[in-house]
Amino acid sequence: MGILCCFQSGADKLLDHGHGGGGGGGGGGPAAVPSSTTKKPPPRDAPAVTVRPPNLLRRDDDHQEEEGARSSSNNNNLATLVDEIVAESATHQHNRRVADEILGMNKEEAAVTARAFTFAELSEASGGFRVDSMLGEGGFGPVYRGRLRDGTEVAVKQLDRNGLQGTREFLVEVLMLSLLKHPQLVTLIGYCADANHRMLVYEFMPQGSLEDHLLDLPPSSRGLDWAMRMRIAQGAARGLEYLHDASRRPGPPVIYRDFKASNILLDGCFRAHLSDFGLAKVGPVGDKTHVSTRVMGTYGYCAPEYALTGKLTTMSDVYSFGVVFLEIITGRRVIDTSRPRDEHNLVQWAAPRFKSKKRFREMADPLLRGAYPTKGLYQALAISAMCLQEDATMRPSIADVVTALDYLTGVAKPSPPSQQQSPSPSPSPTHPQQQSPSPSPSPTHPQQQSPPKEEEDDATD
Ligand SMILES: Nc1ncnc2c1ncn2[C@@H]1O[C@H](COP(=O)(O)OP(=O)(O)OP(=O)(O)O)[C@@H](O)[C@H]1O
Ligand SMILES: [Mg+2]
Repeated sequence: MGILCCFQSGADKLLDHGHGGGGGGGGGGPAAVPSSTTKKPPPRDAPAVTVRPPNLLRRDDDHQEEEGARSSSNNNNLATLVDEIVAESATHQHNRRVADEILGMNKEEAAVTARAFTFAELSEASGGFRVDSMLGEGGFGPVYRGRLRDGTEVAVKQLDRNGLQGTREFLVEVLMLSLLKHPQLVTLIGYCADANHRMLVYEFMPQGSLEDHLLDLPPSSRGLDWAMRMRIAQGAARGLEYLHDASRRPGPPVIYRDFKASNILLDGCFRAHLSDFGLAKVGPVGDKTHVSTRVMGTYGYCAPEYALTGKLTTMSDVYSFGVVFLEIITGRRVIDTSRPRDEHNLVQWAAPRFKSKKRFREMADPLLRGAYPTKGLYQALAISAMCLQEDATMRPSIADVVTALDYLTGVAKPSPPSQQQSPSPSPSPTHPQQQSPSPSPSPTHPQQQSPPKEEEDDATD
């Protein structure tokens, strides 16, 4: 019996929305896309870092003002900030277009709530950017723990001017986090655009990232318990739901594009907060079904159709959610070349297991030591399999995923039997469960494919 047959009751809601699961779920294939730098070693056969277009790399003419020549603006206005940041950028026209698109999301709230810090203030807060106050380092640059004069604990992310990520991501992050507010998104306290410094100041998340608690843990580690894992998945899904569902806030959908374990930060109560909005993109509006962009994201997490065509939809994020949820269930990293060759790719490893109920338990993280509800495991695997379907149109919306996770975590009770649509214990003939399993992943590496032919609204930077 396939995984989707096992997900009843709460998942019926999900299935009832016309997103019935697919048998192969997770055929996924090697969503081989440019990968972001993380502090973890990259897979050997994957690019080590996000492959940014060359013009995303540091430019000599990009903000090379003399250090200390001017202090950051105190003008709490996004438009002024944009002017400051893009003014002398070599890609200023493109950066302005990107900024205008984001600012157009919600003109009424286009005010900076984040505070402008000077370099001196952040240097003081982080003890002079000491190595021992470093929390980690990603593609943007190092992240330091700090404390502001008023006692607020912060994480200061410093743009590495020699690094691969740049002005545009700084700008997008500040704009997006100024316009988007939700308990499941990290709060941007401020930024520093003082002279040629570019820094982001976030609320400090005492438990670090989900990656820290989930992946590459020693066998003796206790790891996260099942209930905690499901709550983290639920919180992260709610964050995505807020971004995708324009009815929850003014403006068009926002596609996050970088959903992965290291970008899910955990507060002191292990509540999930999405971070890193530098790759976020305003989604399609009106009759548009997708936006065409350069393929950006992280190796392994990126939806296959996006990696192949550059056509971005909210379903790309749903696929990434399916990958992370599978990591949460299995404790396995999506790409892990330290494992035997046939286990390098988690989605490929899971595909045959999704089809056989007898093998479901093989997928539970050994660190759980069997402490999970069997039905809950089946349901969680079903959600992940549905999100990982190769056919993006067969994936559930993130709102449906949230509903299923609410049920799984006990937030929502199943509707009484009389109101329930009848569960389908055996697949109906037209049900995608009966479709043939996903074809084996294409060996073609999307990175080697020619760029999308369609007009790119991300063509530079
Ligand atoms: N607000 C925060 N509070 C506490 N720790 C944080 C915060 N932001 C980032 N970190 C820590 O810094 C690390 C590096 O974060 P960063 O987002 O720069 O890189 P990454 O997510 O690992 O990689 P990538 O650049 O590909 O997103 C995180 O894994 C996390 O441990
Ligand atoms: Mg990150």
